[in-house]
Amino acid sequence: MKNDKVLITGGAGFIGSNYVEYVLKNSKDEIFVLDKLTYAGNLQNLEAVSDKINFIKGDICDLEFIQKLFAEHQFQKVVHFAAESHVDNSISGPSEFIQTNIVGTFNLLQCVYKTWMSGPNDLKDEFKKARFLHISTDEVYGTLGETGLFTEETSYAPNSPYSASKASSDFIVRSYFHTYGLPVVTTNCSNNYGPNQHKEKLIPTIIRKAISGQPIPIYGDGKKKRT
Ligand SMILES: NC(=O)c1ccc[n+]([C@@H]2O[C@H](COP(=O)([O-])OP(=O)(O)OC[C@H]3O[C@@H](n4cnc5c(N)ncnc54)[C@H](O)[C@@H]3O)[C@@H](O)[C@H]2O)c1
Repeated sequence: MKNDKVLITGGAGFIGSNYVEYVLKNSKDEIFVLDKLTYAGNLQNLEAVSDKINFIKGDICDLEFIQKLFAEHQFQKVVHFAAESHVDNSISGPSEFIQTNIVGTFNLLQCVYKTWMSGPNDLKDEFKKARFLHISTDEVYGTLGETGLFTEETSYAPNSPYSASKASSDFIVRSYFHTYGLPVVTTNCSNNYGPNQHKEKLIPTIIRKAISGQPIPIYGDGKKKRT
């Protein structure tokens, strides 16, 4: 039986590179990693598996390029991690966040729709098991009060250009499910930490500062909660 071709976007970043290693251990799918290699992407994150994957350097904002990629490979599954992901950068320069997180996600959805479906609610036979997995964040839900937790029923209340761009992408993904019946799944996880994480992120920053005896930075009054 032919193995499925899986497109993993943002696979040279923190979570994407960990996922690539996981999926190589747990499936026989043929892995294609698409990454623009921004400051956040690093091929060293994929060094251990470089002979087991097909790496493609490219930008999800480049629609023509993405269309050609889908025409050539007819991916069965798309796991979409690629994003501008650092809140602080979204405050100093929101434009890239709007482009990559919103327009880039739209480009992928449009290519997936054209590849997998003959029309609304009409999946082609060869794509009956296809899936688009959209990796989003719990930051779309905003901030918690003293108590409580976020659920899938919680109203969206994004507070930064980063979370607003991710919330926008979630809505576009949702619309492709409701309008066209595209097989999508969206996840809204909380903060991750671990190997390959960029040093700009919260936990690496705190560890670095603590080790070097410097003051530990806090956001706002330090009382914001997300669960
Ligand atoms: N890190 C977390 O704690 C966390 C929590 C919740 C959700 N998420 C989401 O998970 C996903 C991955 O997060 P991460 O922390 O691994 O991010 P990251 O910044 O480490 O990696 C993002 C990757 O996407 C690539 N990329 C950026 N723009 C691109 C473009 N236009 N075209 C192609 N590739 C591009 C980068 O080069 C990089 O390799 C993101 O969608 C993020 O919103 C992350």
